[in-house]
Amino acid sequence: MNVTHLECAACGLRHEARRLHNLCVECDKPLLVRYDLGRAAATLTKESLRGRRADLWRYREVLPVEREENVVSLGEGWTPLLRAERLGAKLGMKELLIKDESQNPTQSFKARGMAAAVSMAKELGASKLAVPSAGNAAGALAAYAARAGLEAHIFMPRDTPRANIVECEQTGAHVTLLDGLITDCGAEVARRKEAEGWFDVSTLKEPYRVEGKKTLGYELAEQLGWELPDVIVYPTGGGTGLVGMWKAFDEMEQMGWIDGRRPRMVSVQAAGCAPIVRAFEEGERAAREFADAATVASGLRVPKAVGDFLILDALRASKGVAVAVTDEELLAAVGEIGAAEGLFAAPEGAACLPALRKLLERGEVKRDERVVLFNTGAGVKYLEAFGG
Ligand SMILES: Cc1ncc(COP(=O)(O)O)c(C=O)c1O
Ligand SMILES: [Zn+2]
Repeated sequence: MNVTHLECAACGLRHEARRLHNLCVECDKPLLVRYDLGRAAATLTKESLRGRRADLWRYREVLPVEREENVVSLGEGWTPLLRAERLGAKLGMKELLIKDESQNPTQSFKARGMAAAVSMAKELGASKLAVPSAGNAAGALAAYAARAGLEAHIFMPRDTPRANIVECEQTGAHVTLLDGLITDCGAEVARRKEAEGWFDVSTLKEPYRVEGKKTLGYELAEQLGWELPDVIVYPTGGGTGLVGMWKAFDEMEQMGWIDGRRPRMVSVQAAGCAPIVRAFEEGERAAREFADAATVASGLRVPKAVGDFLILDALRASKGVAVAVTDEELLAAVGEIGAAEGLFAAPEGAACLPALRKLLERGEVKRDERVVLFNTGAGVKYLEAFGG
């Protein structure tokens, strides 16, 4: 067991490991898990990874679960990093790659975070888990909670894609649909959790979803032979995957696996809900709530993220950028990626393509750079968006 403590990402206050936490007790900001990385690196070596299980638990030493029997798994992680040769050629690029997260359990990258969060909830004794969700996190929580024998209480906007609602119902969750946005759902969980005895697993309001998501960074490095790409293009709502990857890169450097070079991190948002893009462009440290948020890419409809400052810090430290694309552009990109690569991407994932096009046109990404797009989910869950 290599966890030493939890640390507030804003004020640095130390919190004890091995007990349930939400935000920092002093400043209400996210807590991050800290490890004894020297100790982790003694058994977690590049060579040792060779024979390990083909899921995210291959990085066991840098994951927070102490006892093996508490690992709740449906086979999450270790998804393909596909070469997108046809799409790359259309863009005049030498090396374009797509990390295909639609191949996770429940068909999205949310499985990574929830596998870690539910395992830790089980280990630390929470029995009723609650979450506000744009859709995919709900499906993932419902599945992992069922697998662990825990209760899932899910709050989603009424206009969440139907597939997300049905999957939660069919995996035994308690589902409440609200007229409003994910922020309204979050407020409802906050209002009721104490009386109901729920543990709130809102992203970055509990410390372990980001640990599951950080494995994206470990996998990327391992799949590329321990050489990170030049640019990572990531569809950003709550930003947990981006913050997680950024953390993973630091951990890998501390373990001596990579050097100090980092990919430029690009946050993609929908024009109808782009708080991070606006804050990035205005030079703000945090993002104001985005009014009247609207986009068919439901996972990107996050008007206010608790980890906004962590996303913005990573974008700036990496010399990256934030880009908004319209719904028209991202929906057209679903068909373009599908026809070129045989991948029916989620609208959120597809949004990476028009964002990349803009950056190529502006000269901010060069055609000979190695670029990874993140397809975070499966298009088949969004039939309404395609007239289904
Ligand atoms: C398919 C998909 N992509 C991207 C996101 C945004 O993810 P994050 O919260 O890590 O920024 C979501 C969130 O719901 C999603 O469902
Ligand atoms: Zn703090």
